[in-house]
Amino acid sequence: MTLRSPLMTVMTGAAQKAARALKRDFGEVEQLQVSRKGPSDFVSAADLRAERTLRQELTKARPKFGFLLEEGGEIKGEDPRHRWIIDPIDGTTNFLHGIPHFAISIGLEMDGEIIAGLVFNPVTDEMFVAEKGKGAFLNDHRLRVSARTDLTDAVIATGIPHHGRGEHGPYLKVLGRVMAAVAGIRRMGTASLDLAYVAAGRCDGYWETGLQPWDMAAGLILVREAGGFVTEVDGGKTPLASGSVLATNAKLHKGLQGILNQD
Ligand code: IPD
Ligand code: CA
Repeated sequence: MTLRSPLMTVMTGAAQKAARALKRDFGEVEQLQVSRKGPSDFVSAADLRAERTLRQELTKARPKFGFLLEEGGEIKGEDPRHRWIIDPIDGTTNFLHGIPHFAISIGLEMDGEIIAGLVFNPVTDEMFVAEKGKGAFLNDHRLRVSARTDLTDAVIATGIPHHGRGEHGPYLKVLGRVMAAVAGIRRMGTASLDLAYVAAGRCDGYWETGLQPWDMAAGLILVREAGGFVTEVDGGKTPLASGSVLATNAKLHKGLQGILNQD
């Protein structure tokens, strides 16, 4: 078993605490599916509660760090160099529909660079963590991106723009090209876990645009520390700022990037 750093101990402790309530809430949501109004108010409350717990726990341990929270927005800290970037429930639609594929995502930024990340699915109990220069781990097992070299063998994850989000026509054109070139496409509905799955070699690549920093902050460092390659879809170097991400093993990056950018 790997010894956790003090920083990672703080992050995992906060995530475990928020996850306990979230798991109970998820159980309730499954029961609420049949009601006509659905469980959306309940889920918003669960989301806020998880965010509050994470903020409280992380503040206890690192009182001066700032925050960028999906629900609460930017909260400046006394220490201008460090900022937590948090999504309390990534994969809200899955959570709302009783689909057990969602995650708590915590990234830590220092001087504008992500130096640590955690993605935790409380239902499967899979805790993906990474720190700069220290590798990426799933429940203490070291992670490596896949070794596949041929796109025809590759499983590629993506995010499909939905109602009220993104440009559907252009996305369909890109999807058409990728689906013809690969072994399979997955739309699992949780960006942070898509990135974690690339880090774990379960998926060989992932692309999406229109993301927010909290969807990807933690996942970016997971992929990089697992030996993967992350850029924007057009090859740019600032996915966190643009919301556009292409993450693959190093071998597939050029080929997939070429297909994504053909027009
Ligand atoms: C969403 C998920 C999804 C991605 C969306 C995100 P949310 O986050 O990560 O996979 O396709 O773009 O907004 O809303 O569930 O926290
Ligand atoms: Ca999200």
